Amino acid sequence: MCRPLAHLAMSLRPVTGWLPASVSARFPRARVSPPRAPAPWSSARPSPLPSPSWSSAKVRLEPNPFFGKKRAPYPQHRRSPTPPTLAPKVPPDPSFPYYIHPHTDVITSDPHNNVTDHIFEKIGYNLHKRPDHPLGIIKSVIESYFDEKYGQDTFTSYDSLYPVVSTYANFDSVLVPPDHVSRSQNDTYYVDEDTVLRCHTSAHQLEMLKDGARKFLVTCDVYRRDSIDATHFPVFHQMEGFRVFEPTEWEEAGKDSVDLAAEELKDCLEGLAKHLFGDVEMRWVDAYFPFTEPSFELEIFFKGEWLEVLGCGVTEMKILEEAGLADKRAWAFGLGLERLAMVLFDIPDIRLFWSDDKRFSKQFKEGMFKAGGVDMQKFKPYSKFPPCLKDVSFWLPKEGDGFTENNLCEVVRDVAGSLVEEVKLIDEFENKKKGLTSNCYRIVYRSMERSLTDDEINSLQERVRDDMVSKLGVELR
Ligand code: DAH
Repeated sequence: MCRPLAHLAMSLRPVTGWLPASVSARFPRARVSPPRAPAPWSSARPSPLPSPSWSSAKVRLEPNPFFGKKRAPYPQHRRSPTPPTLAPKVPPDPSFPYYIHPHTDVITSDPHNNVTDHIFEKIGYNLHKRPDHPLGIIKSVIESYFDEKYGQDTFTSYDSLYPVVSTYANFDSVLVPPDHVSRSQNDTYYVDEDTVLRCHTSAHQLEMLKDGARKFLVTCDVYRRDSIDATHFPVFHQMEGFRVFEPTEWEEAGKDSVDLAAEELKDCLEGLAKHLFGDVEMRWVDAYFPFTEPSFELEIFFKGEWLEVLGCGVTEMKILEEAGLADKRAWAFGLGLERLAMVLFDIPDIRLFWSDDKRFSKQFKEGMFKAGGVDMQKFKPYSKFPPCLKDVSFWLPKEGDGFTENNLCEVVRDVAGSLVEEVKLIDEFENKKKGLTSNCYRIVYRSMERSLTDDEINSLQERVRDDMVSKLGVELR
């Protein structure tokens, strides 16, 4: 049994996006809660890198603790959308590690599956493809920068790549180590043991190279399990840039290939930052990503603070070798569109990107953008409705790791959807005698569109409390 695709077409309404943890960490957030799972690529440099072959680096996943024994499996499978444009560019060869059939079910009773209805409903919105949406506006501003700098269509844009990818594509193909935290079910949405909702646009690098692309931009929706606040949403949008160099290019320039790639990369991205932010101060910070060496982050000084704009670097040769391009060099970059749009248009809450409220959508028009937002109409908040705070105290389960902050956030989102603004730990203590740990979380409910009634909130909170017991195994206090 499959959820009909018409459901997706009908639900082309609200949703939101999320920022790469590395990027979003810049938003100041009071935190009492344990630090979020490390940003996917921010942990210590792993060694050795896995070989990027299909059969290697297969991680053993435990059955999903979130959808474990305490919960009946989903009665239905939900299918992913199949608009014709989502057809994979690669030939449908089932032995090819990237190939996921577009009819793949996204929610199944597979023990590794941790995709919720709330996430499923967001697939196919393609906010980045809407010309009058802030994300579509920023995307086309970036694309026109590449056209202006390198010539019309020198960089080919891809914005309809299929969101369900193999773990090979998402992790192995870009050299993410087998034991890396980003592979955990706490951080990534698994369809089954070998299939995920992509957690970054880099998942398409090798696939595009094998398909013959040499200079390209990839924009898409990406998915990560995460905490809840004004700058984080489990679905968000990224853009990836990739540029391959021929040996003649560095020979003619009389330069080392890595130096040439790094220099051109920096020049290109400084130009992009100017195109977006105007004449701002910038700085390069050394970074680490599994797929590039050297790696950098670009920061700009904007409205009184240093702001991380993107990550980038010179592509690891292993990736080019795997693509049959061992004699070439390349650079790559990745950026979060929500992050840029929030800063440039003064959008205060990430949930607004998914709003179908005319008071939001009417404020954005294709072609409205001006560098740095100077002389540009910014977002005018229409009104802020009152928040409603609910605290819940509970004992953590004695055994197992079924309770994590990300799992709690999934429970809350599945009940309250976009009505939840923040979930934060406000108290924690240990009862040594009982051998138990108590947590108190504050859940902030607020609608972007209207006032919520007490009854409505109380019934949401009751359902959250019930689900915490049945799905996460906590004992309410
Ligand atoms: N994939 C990275 C992320 O999601 C972003 C990124 C960083 C992409 C550096 C790149 C790159 O291509 O070179 O955080």
